Amino acid sequence: MKNVVIAGTQWGDEGKGKVVDILAPHFDIVARYQGGHNAGHTVRIGDRKFILRLIPSGILHNECCCVIGNGVVVEPRAFNTELQELREMGIECEGRLFVSSRAHLILPYHLALDRAREERLGTNSVGTTMRGIGPAYEDKAARIGIRAGDLLYPDLLREKIRTNIEAKNRELVSMHCEPLDCDSTLDDFLSEAMRLKPFIRDTATMINRATGDGKSVLIEGAQGTMLDVDHGTYPFVTSSNATAGGAAIGLGLAPKKITGALGITKAYTTRVGGGPFPTELLDEQGAYLQKRGNEYGAVTGRPRRTGWFDAVVVRYAVMLNGFDALALTKLDVLDEFDEIRISTAYHCRGELLTDIPYGANVLAECEPVYETLPGWKTATNGTTNFADLPAAAKAYVRRVEELCGAPAALISTGPDRSETIIREDSPVSGWMK
Ligand code: IMP
Repeated sequence: MKNVVIAGTQWGDEGKGKVVDILAPHFDIVARYQGGHNAGHTVRIGDRKFILRLIPSGILHNECCCVIGNGVVVEPRAFNTELQELREMGIECEGRLFVSSRAHLILPYHLALDRAREERLGTNSVGTTMRGIGPAYEDKAARIGIRAGDLLYPDLLREKIRTNIEAKNRELVSMHCEPLDCDSTLDDFLSEAMRLKPFIRDTATMINRATGDGKSVLIEGAQGTMLDVDHGTYPFVTSSNATAGGAAIGLGLAPKKITGALGITKAYTTRVGGGPFPTELLDEQGAYLQKRGNEYGAVTGRPRRTGWFDAVVVRYAVMLNGFDALALTKLDVLDEFDEIRISTAYHCRGELLTDIPYGANVLAECEPVYETLPGWKTATNGTTNFADLPAAAKAYVRRVEELCGAPAALISTGPDRSETIIREDSPVSGWMK
């Protein structure tokens, strides 16, 4: 049995898309378990660039079957647009892409509410992607959500949506926002959503039958551990469980069937949106990381906040997710620094902390305790062999491994598939057999 979950160890944007793309040919199914079109997975193949928001990046491999699990929230227009973009690039999805009947749908009122709530929060806003993700998950928990399977029962569906629009309009008006027109909202939504019908399946049964027949699943997470609704920097988080545990719920695959976990880790740290970020660099070094690392959101285009590697964060992620290994991405972005810093602990309210404290307000007060390592001042981009890295780069990788408690089994040295080091006799090389 080989079912491996890939999840982010920081605040998302660690480079999961590229890693999934490398591993996908060695698995039969690639499945997403949470999040929605707030995620942006950029994959570069030669001079072609693909940005996938909702559809698992495994779709770029013709022989891969892809699943959008019950834990994902699906915005029908975003799904249809992505299908169309893939088709224009010669990638056909029909017959090998399936959406769980239990996946919740994002409706126009979710977008309107996301925007209205963020505006109301003002300077305390979460900095959401404004895609309606949070409000859609709220409705799921409130048991008034609309699921993909509801599209198979149109009369009942229209009734449910009408009731919801009326209630949401009352909420929008109370926040001084324009209410939605019930009929046109319903018709526009249904014309997009009905196109999902051929893709809808009981994906939990499908995946379990497939694993029973010896097929393997690569499980693709979105966002990162620090954006997990339970374990992240609440309330500055997304609304789903981005950690590996979410995979079991979000796909309907029993925890004991998940045989491995890989943590995607950027060689420095970035974050989009609001919330605490202890190692953030607000100086020219931060601006340099942003420019050299091309740190702009794949979905929203927003510049990402940047900072040094935070071993407290990644160690926490290794613990929560049980990562067998890390994939260390964007190592080449650090090539030109004279010195590179790693946060190993925090000073906070007179104490030395080696674990993430409770509360975003406390984390916001934490001062990183840095260890300084020499830079390598040598180009590493495109390196495919660990032995060929400069000694200082090897030392940096080894220190990250030591501090975080997991081996860096994959190291990315550039955006292309080929610009990758796969360590021999590592969990990753084992999964690629
Ligand atoms: P939401 O998921 O749109 O509700 O946004 C909640 C928080 O998660 C915000 O800080 C977003 O910037 C952040 N977020 C959501 N998706 C991503 C992602 O794919 N990468 C990085 N940050 C994300």
